[in-house]
Amino acid sequence: MNERASESRDIRVYDDLAALSSAAAAEFAEIAARASAARGRFTVALTGGSTPERAYRLLASPPLHDSVPWSHTHIFFGDERCVPPDSPESNFGMANRTILGMLGDVGGIYRMEGELPDHDEAARRYEAEIARVFELSPGGLPVFDLVLLGMGPDGHCASLFPHKPALNVTDRIAVATAPGLKPFVDRVTLTFPVLNNAENVLFMVAGAEKAAALGRVLDGPPDPDGLPSQRIRPTSGRLVWLVDRTAMRG
Ligand code: 6PG
Repeated sequence: MNERASESRDIRVYDDLAALSSAAAAEFAEIAARASAARGRFTVALTGGSTPERAYRLLASPPLHDSVPWSHTHIFFGDERCVPPDSPESNFGMANRTILGMLGDVGGIYRMEGELPDHDEAARRYEAEIARVFELSPGGLPVFDLVLLGMGPDGHCASLFPHKPALNVTDRIAVATAPGLKPFVDRVTLTFPVLNNAENVLFMVAGAEKAAALGRVLDGPPDPDGLPSQRIRPTSGRLVWLVDRTAMRG
């Protein structure tokens, strides 16, 4: 692994997805332990997609499983496809198969109800759940200890796709949005103000198909509408890019 901390950026390059996943799982466990020790709980928003699966499985098994204070951990989702939770396309379903189903006592698991016919209602119900758990005052934003993100080959993160209105929403915690890539189903997603309010944001990006977008996101000219991941700039939190060599040019 070599680190490229140009400017204040923290970009860690790994030989392959296996090494990236081990590092991501270790970082997750460390942030969890630190948050739980400091505040008595750990709040995390999981990413969907396929990249995190290996890291999730590592966290569900010893030794890392035993280093995470699961009974004080509150697990949310950064986004969800508008499908039933048992659909193969469901981010909750993927997390349930790779980690959630294996955990014992957990502080809380909060699923986006993508299966509701009214997707805006699903977003509003999720906002209410977040407001309850984080004890938000009206207009307040949650401060997640950790937000995990993947990045699509189009530079999207969560379900914040290029040129979609959701990119510019600043007065909501979660919104329903149209798809931008497969699976072409509507989505529910956290918004940029929430993602950028986190204490720690970890991007996990692997695969040659991501290289063009990753190069533009990291080193290309500003293109916040065409490359939504460029909008991830935590207000005061830490942003770490965990990438594999195939996703990094050269
Ligand atoms: C989703 C994710 C999405 C994902 C990227 C990367 O609902 O699909 O939240 O933002 O992280 O599309 O997906 P892969 O990890 O499958 O490449």
